[in-house]
Amino acid sequence: MKPSTTLVSAGRSPRRHSGAVNVPAFRASTITAPDLATWEASRQRRFEKDAVVYGRFGTPSSQALEDAVAAIEGADRVVPVSSGMAACATAILAMVKTGDHVLLPDNVYQPVRLLAGGLLKDFGVEATFYDPLVGAGIAKLMRPNTRLLYLEAPGSQTMEMPDTRALVAEAKARNIRTAFDNTWATPLLFRPLDFGIDLSINAATKYLVGHSDAMLGTIAMRQELFDRVKTVAAAYLGNCPGSEEVYLCLRGMRTMAVRLKRHGKSALAIARWFQGRREVERVLYPALPDDPGHAIWKRDFAGASGLLSVILKPCSKDAVAHFVDGLEHFAIGASFGGYESLVLPFDPRHYRSVTKWDAKGPAIRFHIGLEDVDDLIQDLDQAFARMRAAA
Ligand SMILES: Cc1ncc(COP(=O)(O)O)c(C=O)c1O
Repeated sequence: MKPSTTLVSAGRSPRRHSGAVNVPAFRASTITAPDLATWEASRQRRFEKDAVVYGRFGTPSSQALEDAVAAIEGADRVVPVSSGMAACATAILAMVKTGDHVLLPDNVYQPVRLLAGGLLKDFGVEATFYDPLVGAGIAKLMRPNTRLLYLEAPGSQTMEMPDTRALVAEAKARNIRTAFDNTWATPLLFRPLDFGIDLSINAATKYLVGHSDAMLGTIAMRQELFDRVKTVAAAYLGNCPGSEEVYLCLRGMRTMAVRLKRHGKSALAIARWFQGRREVERVLYPALPDDPGHAIWKRDFAGASGLLSVILKPCSKDAVAHFVDGLEHFAIGASFGGYESLVLPFDPRHYRSVTKWDAKGPAIRFHIGLEDVDDLIQDLDQAFARMRAAA
């Protein structure tokens, strides 16, 4: 079955719900049992796929989401949690204990860096940041107590494309677990588990939900890691997604293939357009043939999403504000993956420790939404004109 068909059908069971196309939002905390024997048996099987024992451990709605995400991830099991960051943190916390060491890419989603310097450090887990382009050189950073190699591809602001195959090979050779934040690509464009990754993390808040109206995270894995990750998420940390969020995510997923295709097509057109602009120093988007990460992206990924970054030629903060503030179709916002376009200036110098960010001009991240691409280009063109006029 092709992935777009899987997205439409996985996790649905109309006959179980009076023929309704969508799985209803089960709003459940307490799950009752008809007798004590059933109750006691249900406690034993609380981590089984269809077991419904208490809202925090899963409901028919969250199980439908698990099934749908597992189907597109090529995973045995999925642990849904309340946000993408909860998925990042849960995946890491489930793999480490005091005295362990983890490897994080220098361009990692910034709150993960904060987690490393905060909670992980407090609990005696040491983190080393690595150059995302280090490839097999990662071996030099691996120690006897390294438990987890964490990856993100491409970096969600600076867009470096790590060599996942080389990194994972070094980890596997040393029995080091791997986790991969796949939010940019979604499992539709890249399937971490197919590359030997242990934990595939998705901020479902972005493209899976797809409409900027719900927070949700997923961790996909083989069966062998499920008990551990589920125990950490639901039993130790008390984390579970809300029923409305699960419903919205399932609904969003049904159209994700169509949306992503459009996001990727428009983003590539706009990336090319940016490349022709005299105000632009460099465009960071691995689908561009001259992007340094293009060969790896082409080798490993089935497409590109709508998130790209641009480095402008050196100009004042005021000029950037003129550009950004004048945009009609790009709202200023930190997220991505919804149907709408977004813009956000960023400065990687504030959150890198081992790699140098040597761009001279300001950097801006764009999420290219589902608006007509001609309207978006016209909007950007006018914003550049206003920026020049104000200079
Ligand atoms: C790459 C990446 N990972 C994780 C997250 C966290 O997701 P959430 O906002 O749902 O916690 C984000 C959010 O921006 C992200 O961009």
